[in-house]
Amino acid sequence: MENRCDLLNEQLLNGVGNIARVMSADGKVADYIPELSLMSAELFSLSCQGIDSSLMETGDREQFFTMQSISKILALSFAIENFGRENVFRHVGMEASADSFNSLMRIEMTSSKPSNPFMNAGAIAVCSLIHKAYKEESVERLLSFMESVTGRENGFDERVFSSEKRSADRNRALAFFMKSMGFLHGDIESILDFYFALCSLRCTSGDLAKIGAMIAAGGVAVHSGERVIQKETVFTLMGLMSTCGLYNGSGEFAVRVGLPGKSGVSGGILVAVPGRMGIGVFSPALDAKGNSVAGIKALELLSEKLDLRGFGKHNR
Ligand code: DON
Repeated sequence: MENRCDLLNEQLLNGVGNIARVMSADGKVADYIPELSLMSAELFSLSCQGIDSSLMETGDREQFFTMQSISKILALSFAIENFGRENVFRHVGMEASADSFNSLMRIEMTSSKPSNPFMNAGAIAVCSLIHKAYKEESVERLLSFMESVTGRENGFDERVFSSEKRSADRNRALAFFMKSMGFLHGDIESILDFYFALCSLRCTSGDLAKIGAMIAAGGVAVHSGERVIQKETVFTLMGLMSTCGLYNGSGEFAVRVGLPGKSGVSGGILVAVPGRMGIGVFSPALDAKGNSVAGIKALELLSEKLDLRGFGKHNR
């Protein structure tokens, strides 16, 4: 059955937004990074970028927030493009885990490399590869990579960066623990600074939709028509987003939304609808697994109304 993307219009987007945004009452804004707790739980924005149509948005579309874990998509893409898939996955696995995003349990239990590049441990390992190659130029490189995808550079949020750096006991423990196990090399504090900078990249839901659309278009940026990542990198992203993009909430997301996605603790979620569009949603109140409650609801409704579901398509 064909999907119904042609039904997408402002009225439908507003309707989905209005139903979904009230769900934020069931969630809680992240406060383990103090600066994130200052975001109002009432904020909501939803953006759709077709691979060959213009951006359509509803809600607080001008609102900037930090990418947090969604930036792990950029770091992974950049690392694969620059160092090759085989080299990257020598340091990190490709397997889903039922653990929370900042867990260090599995590394200790199995004495093996981090499960996947979207868990904090795996993302820090990816950051260490980039940092080893580009040192203090690493942030600049990632900023311009992001610009090549979205068509603009929003910089990073210094306040969130400092707040995370001051309250990063868990990530620091994780990184030093990985070093002790031989999974991380180099200057740990500098690698972590790079990781915190990535998490602090500023974006709107429109930027997320554009990154999603680049992935949906097989690696081509929609604003420029330029290829920014190879098709093979897109397959890797899609596979990992589908299985690990929402951590221990990935299974439920696959059932409810049925599309590859990636979440962040600031309340953003990015989705790629292969061959169709990218979707970005933002609502800061999170469920117990660190995923946006209203964000997931909005994506579930859109997926249902436009028949976007990637898994379980059939002909009747
Ligand atoms: O490392 C952290 O704790 C955060 N900067 C990023 C975590 C995150 O976004 C997890 N996603 N849901």
